Amino acid sequence: MGIQITPSILNADLARLADEVARIPSADMVHVDVMDNHFVPNLTLGVPVFESLSKATDLPLDAHLMIEDADRWAPAYVEAGAASVTFHIEAVRAPVRLAREIRAKGARASMALKPATPIDPYEDLLPELDMLLVMTVEPGFGGQKFLDLCLPKIRRTRELIAKHGLEMWLQVDGGVSLETIERCADAGADVFVAGSAVYSADDPDAMIRELRAKAEAAS
Ligand code: DX5
Ligand code: ZN
Repeated sequence: MGIQITPSILNADLARLADEVARIPSADMVHVDVMDNHFVPNLTLGVPVFESLSKATDLPLDAHLMIEDADRWAPAYVEAGAASVTFHIEAVRAPVRLAREIRAKGARASMALKPATPIDPYEDLLPELDMLLVMTVEPGFGGQKFLDLCLPKIRRTRELIAKHGLEMWLQVDGGVSLETIERCADAGADVFVAGSAVYSADDPDAMIRELRAKAEAAS
């Protein structure tokens, strides 16, 4: 599949969601941050808004669920139109059952790790997943500083994907910018969330193309 740029709309104008998504036609997917004020100290949007956005764009939606009780809510995001659904390992009770349910409903299943969560205990789960998300900030807010300490985990995850001969994608999220994307690509990431970098740019779609070029050069 190669390099993919998946802008986060967290820092977009949330009163004009459809217009904001229309500004990023070069995006491979639109990354939608769902926060419940329990798993993270911030609150964004839920299934009804997600479903409306899905009807308002032809771009695939990438749901990043930063919520407790992901077992209960993740399937609803597939029904609401998500192409990919990411749950946090720290917030799920039955990750294998949930990944299978997401796939059976027709979406890609993805699992996220917070910065302090290691990948190695979950090696055997990788074949159940279509994407692994390595957070490079503490989840909850856009505009935070990229944590370089997560780079070895990106590299390790890429090794494990190769060891098992898997086709899965490796996504990074948090502080990804023109300054940090090369380090992530060099470590083995191939799907890049960028929130403030894209939506604080004068031309968000041009920023996507610049990020893509940097990542392709470094991968
Ligand atoms: C943070 C979210 C991110 C966030 C990224 O918890 O998961 O998707 O929007 O924003 P930036 O790119 O500004 O760090
Ligand atoms: Zn996110």
